[in-house]
Amino acid sequence: MIRMNKQTLSRSCIAIGICMLMGSAWAQDAAPKAPAPAAAPTAAVQGSAAAGQKIAQSGTPQGAAACATCHGAKGEGMAGFPALAGQHAGYLVRQLQHLADGSRQAPVMAPMAKALSAQDRADVSAYYASLPLPIQPVRGPLPKGKDDDGAWLVERGRWADGIPACAQCHGPGGVGVGADFPAIGHLTADYMQSQVAAWNKGQREAGPLGLMGKVAQKLTPADIQAVAAYYARLHGASTSPSPSPSTAATASAPAKP
Ligand code: HEC
Ligand code: HEC
Repeated sequence: MIRMNKQTLSRSCIAIGICMLMGSAWAQDAAPKAPAPAAAPTAAVQGSAAAGQKIAQSGTPQGAAACATCHGAKGEGMAGFPALAGQHAGYLVRQLQHLADGSRQAPVMAPMAKALSAQDRADVSAYYASLPLPIQPVRGPLPKGKDDDGAWLVERGRWADGIPACAQCHGPGGVGVGADFPAIGHLTADYMQSQVAAWNKGQREAGPLGLMGKVAQKLTPADIQAVAAYYARLHGASTSPSPSPSTAATASAPAKP
């Protein structure tokens, strides 16, 4: 038996995801609840959150606009502009690279990603990763009836289509797992749908081993609406990602100025 180090462990977790996507007959109860945190990639460039905060608020002299204009003053996002706060730095850096090199096509975001240097990307990613994620790692009860599609997809998956539970890869409550699996439990249905469409049109590289591209092929717009509505219910008002300062003060996330 191979002795497991962090790397082989994260590789085998990804392998589990693939096995499930290939529809192998896993007993649901035998499947692990969530992949173990993937080993953090050895970032080529060390990011500084303080330098990143300046970029987020004022942009760069090379022409990147202030990120806060679209992604919110605290990275909370809005409608089609994804939330960045609390997302893993390794995930953010990878997306900025893909947005810059065109393997993720996004006409609005691409010029800004291109204008950022590798150091800028590491800095701004370190900054957003340092902000609190507005959701908690809560797990909903396993749904019994067939009436709640969102709960089924998130907590159990849809095995007839070979879709593992979103929670299996994205963690309980969709809080994300390591650098590979981003937090999704707070994203808007609009943004999620735009990304599923992008994978299906070949406009977004599917990331680690193409896992999400295979899942996206099976998801309908109604599925996405149901997933987003389920997550909103699961996280309730107390962890609302609402950007309004009055609700932010009552949120259970660590207080911030
Ligand atoms: C003019 C609006 C705008 C500005 C300014 C902007 N972005 Fe974006 N950003 C977007 C949009 C729109 C998307 C979604 C792209 C897509 O649909 O794939 C996005 C996506 C992203 C993503 C991918 C997020 C994810 O969850 O995968 C990252 C990372 C990102 N932006 C970082 C930044 C940074 C860093 C800055 C500042 C240097 C910035 N953005 C400035 C509009 C903007
Ligand atoms: C087998 C693992 C796996 C499963 C199951 C899975 N995902 Fe993903 N998902 C990923 C990976 C890996 C990424 C990151 C892709 C990348 O790096 O570009 C991702 C990314 C995403 C994103 C983009 C987030 C962003 O910020 O842009 C969304 C939205 C998403 N997944 C939704 C879902 C939903 C909804 C489900 C359940 C129906 C689900 N995923 C199930 C692996 C998975």
